[in-house]
Amino acid sequence: MTKKIIVTGGTGYIGSHTVVELIKKGYNPVIIDNLSNSKKEVISRIEKICKKKVSFFKIDCTKEKKLKELPIWDDVKGIIHFAAHKSVSESVDFPKKYLSNNIGSLEAILNIMKYYKIENLVFSSSCTVYGNPEKLPVTEKSKIQEPTSPYALTKQKCEEIIIKSSCINNYAILRYFNPIGAHKSSLIGELNLNKPNNLVPLISKSIKEKTKLYVYGDDYNTHDGTCVRDYIHVCDVASAHVKVLEKLFTSNKKKYILNIGLSKGVSVLELIKQFEQANNIKVNYEISNRREGDVEQIYANCKLAEKELKWFPERSIKQALIDAWNWEKNN
Ligand code: UD1
Repeated sequence: MTKKIIVTGGTGYIGSHTVVELIKKGYNPVIIDNLSNSKKEVISRIEKICKKKVSFFKIDCTKEKKLKELPIWDDVKGIIHFAAHKSVSESVDFPKKYLSNNIGSLEAILNIMKYYKIENLVFSSSCTVYGNPEKLPVTEKSKIQEPTSPYALTKQKCEEIIIKSSCINNYAILRYFNPIGAHKSSLIGELNLNKPNNLVPLISKSIKEKTKLYVYGDDYNTHDGTCVRDYIHVCDVASAHVKVLEKLFTSNKKKYILNIGLSKGVSVLELIKQFEQANNIKVNYEISNRREGDVEQIYANCKLAEKELKWFPERSIKQALIDAWNWEKNN
């Protein structure tokens, strides 16, 4: 029988790509999502890619009672918990919204796991927990620094709750760096129903709408003055979830905290250049002020994920930027 996996936030950006990967690897994903930053149409898009029906329940994950009443909890082998707000800048303006939603939904999921005796959790965390790191690249042993935004604080708190919770023995915390790109079919990608915030969707949008892209600061202490990040194809991030689930099912070790990135530091200006070269297109940009909450420079050492999971990113940044632009053009 195929293993049933609950995916909260499964119509979201990383969630939808993970659902496709789960189906590809023979799992039976069940999606729970409140569609706050996605659309129901994502389900039919996933079904089109996978040629398979997908179960979906529209519920807010902070509503524990409603979650409990869902007819889905028999024989669940694991939960991948993505459902969360994810905009650094929005979190600076609305900290309470971020704290109550991101921490509240995790608490509800942990209570459900205890109630229905579900053993395995994969939690969607972020490199944001490292704050402004003292040393680069960051490993999982790097110090957890002061949070630079309420969003970062929610990810730090959620990790702490999972690690200290008696509800759960088997968990994997995946600290993603900057997922970009889209599925090669252009059927799923980053939707950005609310105002887009992330660099790559904003590059695409600026080209499509013939507007300017603003580069947030060129006076950082980096090689060209712009912030440095570790960009990784979203499908490689998705595959890490399936690999870690398999590990939770089969190995004796039951607790993982892993960096998931490409292990390359790329500046904002370099990424813009790479976007231009990959897609043979010009980006119209201008340097503007720094954005509140931004980290100066961060990129990963992912040797632990490579060793533990035998997971290796398969796609280049160039491929991700081609897929991102195709997604934007086709949607
Ligand atoms: C942050 C988190 C990341 C999380 C993501 C979720 C950190 C270090 N990273 O990503 O873990 O998954 O939020 O949304 O906290 N930029 C511009 N102009 C723009 C947009 C962005 O210059 O119009 C710059 C930003 O200043 C930043 C870089 O591009 O230096 C990447 O920004 P973005 O794509 O928003 O991601 P992070 O903020 O790094």
